[in-house]
Formats: sequence, structure tokens, C-alpha cells
Amino acid sequence: MRHVRRQGRTARTDAMMDDFTTPGVIRKLLPWETAAFRNHLLRLDPQARHCRFAAGVSDQTIITYAEKALGPDALVHGFFVEGALRGAAELRLLPETGSGEVAVTVEDDWRLTGIGTALFRRLLLTARNRGVENLVMSCLPANRAMQRLAARFEGKISYASGDVFADVTTPPASPLSLWREAWTDGSSLAAALFDTQVRLLRKQARLSRQFVAGTRT
Ligand SMILES: CC(C)(COP(=O)(O)OP(=O)(O)OC[C@H]1O[C@@H](n2cnc3c(N)ncnc32)[C@H](O)[C@@H]1OP(=O)(O)O)[C@@H](O)C(=O)NCCC(=O)NCCS
Repeated sequence: MRHVRRQGRTARTDAMMDDFTTPGVIRKLLPWETAAFRNHLLRLDPQARHCRFAAGVSDQTIITYAEKALGPDALVHGFFVEGALRGAAELRLLPETGSGEVAVTVEDDWRLTGIGTALFRRLLLTARNRGVENLVMSCLPANRAMQRLAARFEGKISYASGDVFADVTTPPASPLSLWREAWTDGSSLAAALFDTQVRLLRKQARLSRQFVAGTRT
């Protein structure tokens, strides 16, 4: 499945104005959603896995990483389609430096439709509201996608020891930015509940059809 890329997008920092073209819901991951996060990382193709971890890593390394990834020092936004996590933006807080480390992953079939940008925008807002002024992403020099994504948010790209670092600065929190996060969390939760309900109703309808077909034969 490949979704249509829209034209003429402009970078916006407003989390209420996500403009990805794929049906799905973005919301914060809950601490007990380790399995969904792990399965998303395991589904990444080898190249994406390499880009995300700056090395080829084994399934076991990903499983071990995912076990600890939703801890108190982390905030992860996820993009869900039909209940499955297809994209994630991880913010790891580094209190000793007042900065945060960022990683974004989107599964192949959902790329180039603005999901990475929308996830990153959400992450920026939560970082801002937690007083994290500086976000750092490290990626491989060949990773044009991540560099373009950072550039959309006026990220400064620097090169050191064969790695590329993208620095993105966030403005201080304001009452409006706090309200935006609360509003976005509320509407995301409502969208997620609605999505779950629709899937349950579809499943119920499918089971009913199967039952009726079974009683006719
Ligand atoms: C990087 C990644 C998250 C981008 O996700 P995405 O959903 O495709 O991102 P978007 O659709 O929002 O596109 C963001 C920008 O990247 C550009 N881009 C995406 N894929 C690209 C590619 N393969 N080559 C060049 N640019 C690319 C887009 O054109 C867009 O830039 P533009 O708006 O200036 O045109 C995704 O490619 C991915 O998961 N890669 C593997 C993991 C990874 O490398 N993570 C980063 C290291 S932590």
C-alpha cells in the first residue's frame, strides 16, 4: 500500500494543524504499550532499522530496547492505523543537559505522506511544554529523509565524526502551547476511542455475516 503524497506542504509548528493524508490517529503511547512499540520497530525494513539505530541491529536488540523505551524519561507519540502502530516519534529527556534526544520512524508503506512531519510536530510541542529547549537527532549522512524533516523545522544540521546531527530549538512554553497540548491529547483520545469502536462494530458485523452464512448452509 502506498499513499498519495500531497503537494505544497509548508512546515507548521501548530500541533492542531496536522496535515498528513493517510487515515490514522496520532496519540501519545501509554507506558504499557511496549508490545505495539516493539512490533513497530521489528517491522522496519533493514535499511530503516539501520538508519534508526545507526547500525544493523538484531531482533533481540530491538526487543531489549523496546522493553525500556517507554520509561519515565521518555515520551513517545505514535501513529496508529486500525489499531497497529505504524510510526513513532521518541523524545528522550536528558535532564543533565536540559536537552532531548529525538528519533522518528515510519513504516515503509506510510512514508512520504507527512506522518513523520506530523509526529515530529507533536513531539516539538511536548518538548516545549516540558522546558526542553534543544532537541538533537543523530542520523547517518545518507539519511536525506531525516535531514529534510529536520530542515522543515529550521533544524541546524552539523557534521561530526561521520555522523550528522540535527539541532532543533523550541521556544519557551506559553499558556497557549500548554492549552494546545491538552487540546490535542483530548481530541486524540476521542479519535482513538472512536477508531476502536468503529473497528469493533466492523468486526461484529463481519461475525454476524459469517454466522448468517453458516446457518444458511
Ligand atoms: C525519516 C522518516 C521518519 C520520514 O518519515 P515520512 O513520514 O516519510 O516523512 P514526511 O512524509 O513527513 O516527509 C518529511 C520530509 O522528508 C522528505 N523525505 C522523505 N523520505 C525521503 C527520502 N527517501 N529521500 C529524500 N527525502 C525524503 C520528504 O520529502 C519531506 O521533505 P519535504 O517536505 O521538504 O518534501 C522515514 O523516512 C523513516 O522512518 N526512515 C527510517 C528511520 C529513520 O531514518 N529515522 C531517522 C533517524 S532517527
